[in-house]
Amino acid sequence: MFKAIARTNKRLHGPPLQSLLTTASSSSTSSSFVLPHIRTALERSTSDHLDVDRTTIFHPYTSLLNPTPTLPVASASGATLTLETGEELIDGMSSWWACVHGYNNPALNAAVTKQLSSMSHVMFGGLTHRPGVALGDTLCKLTGMDSAFICDSGSISVEIALKMALQYHRANNSTGKSRFITVEGGYHGDTFGAMSVCDPVNGMHSAFEGVLPKHVFCKKPGEDPDCSDLSEKLEKHSDSIAALVIEPIVQGAGGMRFYPPSYLNKARELCDAHDVILIFDEIATGFGRAGEFWAKDYTNVMPDIMCIGKALTGGYMTLAATLSTLKIAQGISKSPDGGVALPLMHGPTFTANPLACAVALESINLLLRPSEEDEQVPWWKGRVDMIGSHLEENLAAAKDMPHVVDVRVMGAIGVVEMDAPLSVPEVTRKCVELGCWFRPFGNNLYTFPPYVIEKHELEVLTNGMLKIIEDKKCRTV
Ligand SMILES: Cc1ncc(COP(=O)(O)O)c(C=O)c1O
Repeated sequence: MFKAIARTNKRLHGPPLQSLLTTASSSSTSSSFVLPHIRTALERSTSDHLDVDRTTIFHPYTSLLNPTPTLPVASASGATLTLETGEELIDGMSSWWACVHGYNNPALNAAVTKQLSSMSHVMFGGLTHRPGVALGDTLCKLTGMDSAFICDSGSISVEIALKMALQYHRANNSTGKSRFITVEGGYHGDTFGAMSVCDPVNGMHSAFEGVLPKHVFCKKPGEDPDCSDLSEKLEKHSDSIAALVIEPIVQGAGGMRFYPPSYLNKARELCDAHDVILIFDEIATGFGRAGEFWAKDYTNVMPDIMCIGKALTGGYMTLAATLSTLKIAQGISKSPDGGVALPLMHGPTFTANPLACAVALESINLLLRPSEEDEQVPWWKGRVDMIGSHLEENLAAAKDMPHVVDVRVMGAIGVVEMDAPLSVPEVTRKCVELGCWFRPFGNNLYTFPPYVIEKHELEVLTNGMLKIIEDKKCRTV
């Protein structure tokens, strides 16, 4: 390990840096200049490229000592990923549920290009711009919320939601309300605040034991349909609880579980009774994925704060937003004597990046345009219903297969739950053989297809899922 650190330092500060610069051709002009190292890195053989990847680059949740295999993607278009080795894979993941319009979408490409020619970025402190304001305003109209903070990623939007809740109570002299309540089986991101409200067993609590703050966890909504556990815990702890954080209707990365909307009605009542702010994390469910445009639309419940992300830019760029009601937005800064207290304490460099905001506006436009089949139905709804029916019909066969515990579909989400974890390296290998792309999580093989997917491509996905669960090499038990 020390050797690796020494090597890295040498690369950054020692002679190698000099050699990277001096081996450049002296005849190249500044406009045609390409650092030789960059040229090599971009043009080296696929096997050398994968070697450097394996030894140097951290991928999500991997160890450099024993990295899981990665597939080298050369390009992507529609619902297809093309590998450097020539294989074409139909994408069952929408790049972690974000790429709803598929890849290389002409309208989204055009939105980025148009915005590029006016400005790719300016700071949002003291300056403002049309794409940022138009996006925030549009998101408020689409959700029924009153204010928007446009931020970098889903995890960050959760951090902002937690800060908003704490600042709101502090401004109202309820300084004791400094913890959160949430449910088991949740996932809200990988930053410290977000990690602290993820599932205490499957999340990262043990990796950061002693550092993560201790919040209050209730039973999963599916195991507590009448909210009696939530009610009991709020009764006991509400003096110290600032907010309830929950993914409405679908618990995503924590297990792909669906639960009835009535839980949210009861949770809203309990939050009101205990002066607890209700935060909906719609980062995974937003933009139609769960069958309604927002999962909250399965109910008439309004949260106080709402986080959205992932599909916000159609998967083009990282962007998210934290939306809040006027009560929260103004309450944060109201001092007890009626004056103005602290501002919202958040403001990273790339707040409301104009490029990302412009592509998000076009993505929303594409989602909400009338569908070709029926003008009364928005495009997203027609596509999500079509995908959902296909998944229902074609995954039904899995119900009777060995080792399958449950098959469930909601909106454009299809899940096959097994009795033991799947082997990620083996599923990856099998995906290349079958021409599809999935990344299982724990016991679940699941799909979130891009909404642009064609029926014959969906067939590749559902047939692929059945073949993967049939293959005993793909199972760990
Ligand atoms: C419900 C939910 N919240 C938060 C996040 C974190 O978002 P990001 O990965 O953009 O930080 C995710 C990501 O999977 C999510 O599913």
